[in-house]
Amino acid sequence: MDTNNILLDFNSQFQMVESHSQLEEIRIKYLGKKGIVTELFLNLKSIDESQKKSFGAIINNLRNQITQQIDNKKQFFDDLELNSKLLKQKIDITQPIRKSTDGFIHPISKTIKEVREIFSNLGFTCADGPEIEEDFFNFSALNMPKDHPARQMQDTFYFANSQEKLLRTHTSNVQIRKMLENPNPPIKNIAIGRVFRRDSDQTHTPMFHQIEGFMVDEESNMSHLKWVLEEFLKQFFEVNDINLRFRPSFFPFTEPSAEVDIGYSNSQGRIKIGSNEKYLEILGCGMIHPNVLQNCKINREKYQGFAFGIGIERLTMLKYGINDLRMLFENDLRFLKHFGFKSYEF
Ligand code: DAH
Repeated sequence: MDTNNILLDFNSQFQMVESHSQLEEIRIKYLGKKGIVTELFLNLKSIDESQKKSFGAIINNLRNQITQQIDNKKQFFDDLELNSKLLKQKIDITQPIRKSTDGFIHPISKTIKEVREIFSNLGFTCADGPEIEEDFFNFSALNMPKDHPARQMQDTFYFANSQEKLLRTHTSNVQIRKMLENPNPPIKNIAIGRVFRRDSDQTHTPMFHQIEGFMVDEESNMSHLKWVLEEFLKQFFEVNDINLRFRPSFFPFTEPSAEVDIGYSNSQGRIKIGSNEKYLEILGCGMIHPNVLQNCKINREKYQGFAFGIGIERLTMLKYGINDLRMLFENDLRFLKHFGFKSYEF
């Protein structure tokens, strides 16, 4: 068996190889399971014992040479392929950039960011909870058992075939989740997120945003609540003085409860916060009901706290003088260009 001839044959064919697939063909032909070189190894069995060793060395050598050449060529093709890919992906960094004029940050996003910053500076943590919620967190634990009439105030989206699963109607669910997570106050948290109600007209949309804030420790009271709200609103509306009106109200999860109106004036279509000409309701609040603390495994004899819920859309409309709620959700480019913010203003 002439291994020299095999190598010569291989070389002449190998020279013609121009692609990965041809390379693979020739590899199979020589080194594959039934390849020419592989067969030589199989034939070793029938060779005279005295020649076995030397012939074995020869075909080993032949196999190594062929393998080496194939490997080199494979590397060569790989490099070629990579280089042509890189060439195609080349970016001309000297080209002038396309001017971007059409990205705006929505006023709702801007409000959310500002609210977060203000409350963080007041020492509140920011943790939101799930939008798909269980009845317990959205209602029962908030002192609204199954037959409670206040449930009807919040036109709830329930999931088909479930009385237990719903889209949260307010961000108050986060109060419950945070308290259950942390049975040893103090806790100071705000949650900002989407809430859902079956309601839609000029002043209601089925999805809107709320801030839920609360604080629990051994001595927080209504005057702390009042200070926090005043401080937040002054910072948010960027005014030194603010007029707030606390009206007694009812929420099942607070006792006592209040609704808060903010004083403003409206001259020539411009809203000015701080005067006492007109009042607009902007939030609900109160001292957390002891039943709620108890439902969250917090010692109601030792701890107390306050809570408040604010509508993000209301805040945004007041701050920027937007007079139709629906404009916030229509995504009309003219609206976004006028009321939106550039990223560097964000
Ligand atoms: N969850 C109430 C709502 O969506 C808002 C609210 C009122 C939250 C009073 C509170 C609160 O934490 O104390 O209408």
